[in-house]
Amino acid sequence: MQEIFLKAPPMGWNSWNTFMDGLDEATLREIAVSLKEQGFLEAGYEYFCLDDGWEEKTRRVGCGVDYDRKKFPSGLKSFGDFLHGLGFKFGIYSCAGTLTCGGYPGSYGYEYEDAQKFADWGVDLLKYDNCYVPTDVPGKFLYRRMGQALRETGRPILYSMCNWGFDDSQTWVRSTGAHSYRIGTDSRDTWENVQSVMHVLGKMNLTAFSGANCYADPDFLIAGMNGRGAVSNLGEEIGPNAGYNVYRMQFSLWCMICAPLMMSHDPRYTTPQTAEILLNRELLAVNQDAANIPAFPCRIEKMMEADASKCEVWAKPLSCGDVVVGLFNRKDTPAYLQAGFESMGWLLSDTVDAYDLWAHRPAGVFRGNVTMQVPGRDCVVLRLHRRR
Ligand code: GAL
Repeated sequence: MQEIFLKAPPMGWNSWNTFMDGLDEATLREIAVSLKEQGFLEAGYEYFCLDDGWEEKTRRVGCGVDYDRKKFPSGLKSFGDFLHGLGFKFGIYSCAGTLTCGGYPGSYGYEYEDAQKFADWGVDLLKYDNCYVPTDVPGKFLYRRMGQALRETGRPILYSMCNWGFDDSQTWVRSTGAHSYRIGTDSRDTWENVQSVMHVLGKMNLTAFSGANCYADPDFLIAGMNGRGAVSNLGEEIGPNAGYNVYRMQFSLWCMICAPLMMSHDPRYTTPQTAEILLNRELLAVNQDAANIPAFPCRIEKMMEADASKCEVWAKPLSCGDVVVGLFNRKDTPAYLQAGFESMGWLLSDTVDAYDLWAHRPAGVFRGNVTMQVPGRDCVVLRLHRRR
């Protein structure tokens, strides 16, 4: 029996936000090549994940689930081999209920058959959703069942649980063997969506239940969607796409809280600004840091303006002894944010050198606290090094 032990959050790309269930093999092959050519694979985005919609619409009775032959004419084994040949890992999707959220066959009652099929196709990651689940079986039993089925295949398969934080999942997720677990709603390319998730994250005690080998997952990165992509056309959201400043905020916070980094834009339309965000090596190193400590919110000592509820300061200690501090301003106008060193573990008499992880240059010397002006709907992320 083989197991995976994750020492850093998983990174990759997922098909959902761009294609929803409109998948086709030729386009997906193009996407994989494009990701590789642009350096995403080399930067660590190694899981290439199919979300819902790869399945044949009806399951043949008594069989493991099968793929849609029109969408994948050469088959999933061959598709997986192609991904592996490029150097990617192969991710797939299923659901703990009788149907998936998109109405395709779910794995309920077929967990062991399906897990074996995934292993036979060379799958390296399974995202496991929570629609159409039976009401008389506790969610934790269903997620344990698939976890068990995956382990029994003997193939190391990263298990990505997607029950949106229902049933207090943070209290039992580790009993299922899951390596990551969704803690809330789907991400969307809008300011409303990003700011409401940021607000919720600020109220959760992530450090208590997210860390090595089992990471809390606030859903996909939206950087680079730029209003494009199937989920952008659902008509359920009002307003324009989020924009680069918001993409920067989401990416920064995701890196700081040790979130899985799953891109979701169409990489064939990556702009230079998008690449600058998603390939920010200094922030990627923060996400992948060996200490595995998710950022925690710090008390804001002083605000020059009112409306502190829309401003947050987060701190993430790194294994080398530096501390990354993120100042997030959800207001529309600039704000001065100040956070004292004590909540980061330093003393008010300490002096630190700051380095700006977006501007990529030194950002001054601070004593006792860090104070910066942050533009509206934007963030400043600093790496602080204490003078010893
Ligand atoms: C939702 C899930 C999305 C996507 C979709 C597929 O439940 O949160 O991320 O996987 O199902 O139908």
